[in-house]
This record gives sequence, structure tokens and C-alpha cells, in this order.
Amino acid sequence: MSATSEIKKVTTRRIQEMKEKGEKITALTAYDFLIARLCDRAGIDIILVGDSLGNVFQGHLTTLPVTLDDMIYHTKAVQRGVKRAMIVVDMPFMSYQTNIEEAFRNAGRIMKETDAGAVKIEGGELFAETVAKLTANGIPVMGHIGLTPQSIHRFGGYQPRGKEKEEAQQLIRDAKALEEAGAFAIVIEKVPAKLAKRITQSIKIPTIGIGAGKYVDGQILVVYDMLGLTEEFNPRFVRKYAHLSETIFDAFKRYIEDIRSGDFPNEKESY
Ligand code: KIV
Repeated sequence: MSATSEIKKVTTRRIQEMKEKGEKITALTAYDFLIARLCDRAGIDIILVGDSLGNVFQGHLTTLPVTLDDMIYHTKAVQRGVKRAMIVVDMPFMSYQTNIEEAFRNAGRIMKETDAGAVKIEGGELFAETVAKLTANGIPVMGHIGLTPQSIHRFGGYQPRGKEKEEAQQLIRDAKALEEAGAFAIVIEKVPAKLAKRITQSIKIPTIGIGAGKYVDGQILVVYDMLGLTEEFNPRFVRKYAHLSETIFDAFKRYIEDIRSGDFPNEKESY
């Protein structure tokens, strides 16, 4: 057995075990080979090929234009960089909402054509039957509740969800419905920390928070946000671990200057 084949892939079982042992689950999005490889080498547990690629990679205002083919294309690039992390793939808008059979076919395409370990679906109770169909047929599903960006036009903005009692109670019902349907984990996006804590305590499967405070089982961020590439996006839940837009901009400026001044390339950089 070679050294590479000894790397233990993160599985749904391992994710559940982490919750039970109180080990925090780490997750980041990735959309390409090099970033995925760095995430994996750093020890990230879950890499989400998020449909946020519609915003941060494709430059759209929402995630709605992202297609199933886009998701499969990016996942194929990501998988080439990943040895250990579990790859989860977002099912894009209108790839699972129409009916259960279509959701099953599309999730099946993701699993068949990529090395993904699971798919992610936005929504709770409403999609419980879909989640049940997928999981019963061997496709692990991660749920996603709270601020679900595919419903942005219904919400009318990116404000936190679950602040009102009624919506908070619905989110708890959503989490329970997803658990019952067989989801292996749930992303909770942009809800009050107290509510995320209640949801986490009310189910046995792990919760992964984004803008949901610390009383969840793990955390996820959009990789370009935490790297400081998305300059104009500064919500309070994004901690910037780097300021890459400044670093990259400065590199481009110096490159232009060096060419114009004749400094690049020098003798050592020539044959
Ligand atoms: O698409 C995405 O990147 C996501 C995360 C923000 C959880 O769904």
C-alpha cells in the first residue's frame, strides 16, 4: 500500500463521530484545484463546492444562474486537489425543486461524474421527502437552513433569519425533518447564535454554522471571503485571515511597473 492510499478520507461516519466526541468540524468552500489542494493540505474536514461560485467566481449577483454542469465542472477541478477532505457539492437552483425524481437524477449525476461524498440541498421540511429518497438510495445529503441564498428573492435581502418566534420555530422543525429524512449534517446560515444553539441541541446530527455563532458543531466560510478577496463583502461573521486582494493588486501594479521600466525580465530571468 502506498503512502498516499493510507490517507483516511473524511466520511459521514467520521463527521458524526466528531460531533459525538465534541471535536469541531472545519469546512471551507473551494471551486478550483489549487485552493482545494491548499484546504486539504491544511487539514480542512469538509470542502463544499458551493453554488456561491455564482457570486464569487462567475460574478453574478445571486446564485440562481448556476447550472448543474457548472457544479460538476468545478467539482472535477476540486477533486484533483483533494486526498482527505470530504467533498460536498451544492445542488444548484432548479436542480431539485421541480420533483423528487429529477432531484434524484441530478444528485446521481453529481455522485457518478465526480468524486463527491455528498450533495447539499437548501431547505427543510419542504424537501424532507427528497432528502429521504436520496439517502435511501445511497446519496448522503447535507441540509441547509436559515438564510438560504437560492430564496433570496423571497426573503428580499440578506438579513439574518429566525429572529421572529414563528420563523425560529419553523427552523427547528426544519432541522428535525432533515434529521428524520436521513441528512448527515445541516448548514445553519445567518441566524441568531441562541437559535443555532437550540437547533444544535435538538438534533443528533452535526450542525455547521455560517454567521450562526459558536454553539454549533462546526464552521464554514466562503474561501474568498476569509482570504480577503471579496473586498466589498464585509458582514460581521466573516473573519478575514488574509488580505489577498491587496496583495494581488500590489503584485499586478509592480509587474506592470517592472515591464514598463525595463526591469523585467532581467539577465537571470532570460535564456
Ligand atoms: O454556496 C455556498 O458557499 C454555501 C455556504 C455559504 C454554506 O452554501
